[in-house]
Amino acid sequence: MEVVHLGDPVLRQKAEPVTEFTDELRSFINEMFDTMIEAEGVGLAAPQVGKSSRFFVIIADDDVRRVFINPQIISTSAELVPFEEGCLSIPKVYEKIMRPEKVTVQAQDEFGKKFILEADGLLARIIQHENDHLDGILYIDKGDADFKKKVEEQFAKREERRKAKLAQKKAKQAKLQAKLAKKGGNPPNA
Ligand code: CO
Repeated sequence: MEVVHLGDPVLRQKAEPVTEFTDELRSFINEMFDTMIEAEGVGLAAPQVGKSSRFFVIIADDDVRRVFINPQIISTSAELVPFEEGCLSIPKVYEKIMRPEKVTVQAQDEFGKKFILEADGLLARIIQHENDHLDGILYIDKGDADFKKKVEEQFAKREERRKAKLAQKKAKQAKLQAKLAKKGGNPPNA
């Protein structure tokens, strides 16, 4: 699976609820765990792999695999704490963000079974970060406005460079094809 980056519109969409708990969903979730582990992440939401659907996976510091489908944060502690956050969709960027220290979340597992979980520490932090992804909210929205602007511009430039490179590659290929056609040879097999 490929993790999409800041600038991809899917990250800003409000994701759709999950209505069917199928084998397909479960294998998608397994693939998300693999992708997250490979990327050394602690949480990954479906929109981050291009699927605008309300679920995310987490492996926090207790090493437990956790799946949250159609989650709802039903309460949070009044006390806010700072924590340096990062996001697999905004690589190599970190910022200290204030959030409630504790949350109570209600969600469904990969078989549709409802559960309620009270979390604090790192797990509470990841739950809130991932839950935001389902509403098109990124952690940079919650920090310093200038920092957000800077990061968004940086990623827009990166995307432009990527597109320019791709266009260049395509033009080169077209040129090669035209050259081969002129020669009357067979086009390359690929
Ligand atoms: Co994230």
